[in-house]
Amino acid sequence: MPWHSCAILQPLDDPWPPASAVLFHRQPILTESDVVLGRQAVGRAMAEVGAREVRRIRLVTAVSEIFRNALRYGGGGEAVIFLDRVTKAVLVECRDNGPGIEDTALAMRDGYTSGKGLGMGLGGAQRLTDAFELHSRPNEGTRVRMMSRA
Ligand SMILES: Nc1ncnc2c1ncn2[C@@H]1O[C@H](COP(=O)(O)OP(=O)(O)OP(=O)(O)O)[C@@H](O)[C@H]1O
Ligand SMILES: [Mg+2]
Repeated sequence: MPWHSCAILQPLDDPWPPASAVLFHRQPILTESDVVLGRQAVGRAMAEVGAREVRRIRLVTAVSEIFRNALRYGGGGEAVIFLDRVTKAVLVECRDNGPGIEDTALAMRDGYTSGKGLGMGLGGAQRLTDAFELHSRPNEGTRVRMMSRA
């Protein structure tokens, strides 16, 4: 789908997923326990490419925010986790078919929330990852792609 609004802070390389990446895990994000399963899978993927604990926790924290957003605002979605042994990186895509985000630049801003959150999730996730792209289309959904190197 052609995306309406996107906030690309640190762009990913083309193509997605990278040619050397392999599928590690697919996780439906429909409940709180799915968020936990998703973050655990991301932690295992980071361990698999040799990431130390601090790096692992950074990506796990970032994806938790994104998975929780997909659940809370997107009405649920799916996360797809890839690992790349060549570049020693983990790549995560989370997409939902929720209401989307009209203004992704505004949504990225620290302190902006449409609910009762702190408005720190998106900005925090971006700072914790090596590449971060948010694409959204109102009434159709939201897609976040992230990459972290070990
Ligand atoms: N998947 C999504 N679908 C629709 N809107 C979203 C989605 N993710 C984020 N948003 C919008 O972007 C805003 C900012 O998200 P962000 O995660 O930064 O903060 P928050 O979820 O409101 O609070 P926090 O994450 O700090 O608890 C949200 O309040 C919501 O309006
Ligand atoms: Mg949030």
